[in-house]
Amino acid sequence: MKGIILAGGTGSRLAPLTKVTNKHLLPVYNEPMIYKVIHTLTNSGIKDISIVLGGESVGDFIRLLGDGSDFGAQFSYVYQQGAGGIAEALYLTRKIVQGCKVAVILGDNIFEDTFKEAVREFDESNTHDCHLFLKRVPDPERFGVAELDDDGNIINIEEKPANPKSDLCVTGLYFYNAEIFSIIEYVINKIGYSERGELEITDVNNYYIQNKNTRANIVDGFWSDAGTFKTLLRCTNFVNRSLNESK
Ligand code: G1P
Repeated sequence: MKGIILAGGTGSRLAPLTKVTNKHLLPVYNEPMIYKVIHTLTNSGIKDISIVLGGESVGDFIRLLGDGSDFGAQFSYVYQQGAGGIAEALYLTRKIVQGCKVAVILGDNIFEDTFKEAVREFDESNTHDCHLFLKRVPDPERFGVAELDDDGNIINIEEKPANPKSDLCVTGLYFYNAEIFSIIEYVINKIGYSERGELEITDVNNYYIQNKNTRANIVDGFWSDAGTFKTLLRCTNFVNRSLNESK
């Protein structure tokens, strides 16, 4: 199973911090944000990682991360022109990934948990085609929001709904089988870009939910995005707490 980190985008919600650098290079307590995301993959057993970059800081990323050997991993890089959304960024990796299952993670998503067991099960068995990870949040309207049936199965996701049907946010970690790129092509042709000008990962996930075998589970540990001043501080405070607790 290959890993994909999506680290494009403009980081406009963090301006002016992002005026001369990229959001994913900003510090989360003791490390650049993207280190935390790399650790989530490598600690889950994923070492072959493609990183989708955008904007003007590509050289900084490559100088910082190199070929991946500092992380016991192997990195390759893909460039996303503009900010066409998560599904578009993911689609750019199709030549590199070629027929593998993938674990996709957004470059600003900070997880306490690692996912070794979930990766092993998804990679080795063919029990399901897509695995999503949910978290209860107080402000679901900021996210993709999952709707579950009475048995706890995921039945739909709404992107940033004004009236959320649950408090279960769809986090930015997604496991897909090798059909992912033909499903993105379906979304490109049949649904297209959303009002915010993005190819929405929620449309991809809803296709999996409606047509394929999709599982979702709630993550136990801390999770937050780090894409706003508030959430960046929340992630920084979390890492500070966890490092001091382990001393
Ligand atoms: C994106 C996804 C959303 C998901 C969130 C997690 O939102 O579109 O479904 O819940 O990441 O961080 P965005 O950061 O693009 O607003």
